[in-house]
Amino acid sequence: MKTAIVGTGYVGLVTGTCFAEMGLNVVCVDIDKNKIDKLKDGIIPIYEPGLEELVKKNYSDGRLSFTTDLASCINDVDIIFSAVGTPPDEDGSADLKYVLDVARTIGKNMTRYVLVVTKSTVPVGTAALVRSTIQKELDKRGLEIEFDVASNPEFLKEGNAVNDFMHPDRVVVGVESEKAKKLLSKLYKPFMINNFRIIFMDVPSAEMTKYAANAMLATRISFMNNIASLCEAVGADINMVRAGIGSDTRIGKSFLYAGCGYGGSCFPKDVKALIKTASEHHVDLEILKAVEKVNAEQKKILFRKLSDYYHGDLAGKTVGVWGLSFKPETDDMREAPSLVLIHSLLQAGCKVKAYDPIAMNEAHRILGNHEAIVFTDDMYDAVLDSDALLLVTEWKQFRLPSWSVMKKLMRTPYILDGRNIYDADELTQMGFVYECIGRAYNR
Ligand code: UDX
Repeated sequence: MKTAIVGTGYVGLVTGTCFAEMGLNVVCVDIDKNKIDKLKDGIIPIYEPGLEELVKKNYSDGRLSFTTDLASCINDVDIIFSAVGTPPDEDGSADLKYVLDVARTIGKNMTRYVLVVTKSTVPVGTAALVRSTIQKELDKRGLEIEFDVASNPEFLKEGNAVNDFMHPDRVVVGVESEKAKKLLSKLYKPFMINNFRIIFMDVPSAEMTKYAANAMLATRISFMNNIASLCEAVGADINMVRAGIGSDTRIGKSFLYAGCGYGGSCFPKDVKALIKTASEHHVDLEILKAVEKVNAEQKKILFRKLSDYYHGDLAGKTVGVWGLSFKPETDDMREAPSLVLIHSLLQAGCKVKAYDPIAMNEAHRILGNHEAIVFTDDMYDAVLDSDALLLVTEWKQFRLPSWSVMKKLMRTPYILDGRNIYDADELTQMGFVYECIGRAYNR
């Protein structure tokens, strides 16, 4: 069985590489020649643990190949996955330009049966649009060729993408025919060990499942952030509340961590897109509107706490910021809470010393050169002569810093922990002022 994956972003590259690792013959396609050339040289465009090794290995073993020419491989493969980008339009809806470009190319060039599977996160109804786009091209050519469309949304998380793909909780597949179901069952057969589950359903339900999953997870986070604010007000501790509610199996332990807001390429975009789709169908997704609003406020929380601590007078203060990517183990800065924070700090006249283990180049690219920002090479340099340390992203290397060294380096020993990873008692005993999210303080 031979497969083409169109789009070598996070989803496409991980999908293609992992299928190849499972013994399938995979060609990865992208219109970006530079990207494809680099991939052939074993240079991967993203930071994703374990991916580079797998790309190199499968490429040199000949199971994985790269091309910019989709047209030339359409008739060599049985299944084409479309994993191209769906950037948000100005109004929040997903832009389907690239998805439909792929469909047009397939319709223009196919000469035999092919199964076209959408892996990108696309609104309900997109598979039908892909079908009609391909059909239109076939009609123009006066051809009657059988084909299928299917939806196979991807649930992998950045930073754990390879592992998530290899050991998924479940695979969701929306199909329209028995033939497509058989092909996709065969494709996923090598993964069928232990508790692996493939859930077949109709296409619109599969498309909806992806949005509903992300929206539910985003809701849990905003809910916990909201409850965290109340915990601060009434003298409760969100960490204890989390442990208390997470042990109810109906609720579960995951995605209950209060913090400084969710970011990334998926949650913000998908929540927005789902609200938009709903409004087009005259359904008011009030809950999700609140989820978005709470998240936008949460991204401002560290700045607000810092400002309260200094009674609104932040001009001239030096602030160390640890963790710039939207979450650990990635260099992705999209919708990162650190960006909202740094902009506010700069606006308030602070000097920012920023450090991230991996995302420094990306942060520099996005934030640009600014005389009030220093990107430090070392995490301790970021706190030198600082009036506060703000922990934004919980990278492992920030978990156990040498507090005695920190105490000497900082001008004011004030730690603001946006991810609740430090021990309040330990820090207080050492003479730090420690604040986190969802816990009352006695200043
Ligand atoms: C998410 C989904 O988890 C994944 O299934 C989907 O395919 C893509 O979107 P990802 O964006 O890679 O994956 O990140 P994820 O690990 O889910 O974290 C998203 C955001 O939520 C991060 O900003 C993270 O810091 C935040 N988060 C997560 C919390 O604030 N609290 C939590 O308890 C969990």
